[in-house]
Amino acid sequence: MPVLLRFLSVKTSDLLPSATKTEAALVEQLDRKRLPRHVAVIMDGNGRWAQRRHLPRIAGHRAGVDAARETIESCARLGIGALTLYAFSAENWKRPRTEVDTLWRLLRIYLRKELPEIMRNDIQFSCMGHLEALPGQVREELESAMVSTARNRGMRLNVAINYSGRKELVDALNAIVEDARIEGRLADLRITEETIASRLYTAGLPDPDLLIRTSGEKRISNFLLWQIAYSEIYITDTLWPDFRRTDLLEAILDYQKRDRRFGGLGSSTERDDEWIAAVGATNR
Ligand code: FPP
Repeated sequence: MPVLLRFLSVKTSDLLPSATKTEAALVEQLDRKRLPRHVAVIMDGNGRWAQRRHLPRIAGHRAGVDAARETIESCARLGIGALTLYAFSAENWKRPRTEVDTLWRLLRIYLRKELPEIMRNDIQFSCMGHLEALPGQVREELESAMVSTARNRGMRLNVAINYSGRKELVDALNAIVEDARIEGRLADLRITEETIASRLYTAGLPDPDLLIRTSGEKRISNFLLWQIAYSEIYITDTLWPDFRRTDLLEAILDYQKRDRRFGGLGSSTERDDEWIAAVGATNR
C-alpha cells in the first residue's frame, strides 16, 4: 500500500510504535492529508553540540547520525514522500582532513548498519552531488545501497553529499546545452523552467514544501537554490544532534499552520471577495 494511504488508515500507536505521550499527542494534531510531500533538512550544529560538552567535533557528528536515523525513520513512517538531508557540502572539504575522513566513516557505518531497517521501512535511498570526488569505498557503499533499495516504493531518502546548489544549476545548464548540441538544435535552443527542473539532481521529485534548518543560523548555505523558491522555512535553535521526533513533529505542525500563497493571495482571497461583494452591494 502506498505510504500515504497506509498513514491515513493507521492509528498513532501503530504508526510510531515507540512514541512517547508527547509525540503521540503531536501526531494526533497533524492534518494527515496535508503532510509536506518533500522535507529538506540542513543539519547544523554538530560541532557546537560537541564543544558544549567539551568533546571533539567528531562526537557531535556521531550524535548527529543518531538524529538523522530517527528523522529518517519517523518521516518514512509518517508518510512523507521524500526527505533530502544535507550531509556534506562542496565547501566542507575546507575542514580538517581527520574530520572529513570521520564523516565518510560514519556514513559507511550508517549505511552498513541501517540497511536492514531502510529495507524494512521500504525506503528508496539515493544521493546527489559530485560523488566521483569521494573515496572509492564510500562511493561503492553508496552505490550498493542505491541498488539494494532501488525497488522500494516508500519514502525517497535523498542525501546531498559533496553538494553545491550553484554547481547543480551549472551542471543542469551544461547538460541542456550538451543535449541540444548532440541533437543539432543548439542554434534554436530556448531554456525554460521546465527544462532546468528536468536536469536538476532532484528531477522527478516535487520541490521541498518544508525546509528545516537547525542550530538557529539563518542561511541557505548553497542548498537547493532552485528548488526552495516557495518552500516554507523552519529554523530551530535546537542543535542537530538534539533534534528528535518531537522537533520534527513540531516543524510539520508549524508548516501546516502556514498560509501558502505562492505569490497569490491564498486563503485571504475568499474574505476579500466577500468584502468586495459587500462594498459593491452598499454602493449600488
Ligand atoms: C553540520 O554541523 C553537520 C555536518 C557538516 C555533517 C552532518 C552529517 C551527518 C550528521 C551525517 C549523517 C547523515 C546521514 C545520512 C546518516 P557542523 O559541524 O557544521 O556544526 P557547527 O556549525 O556547530 O560547527
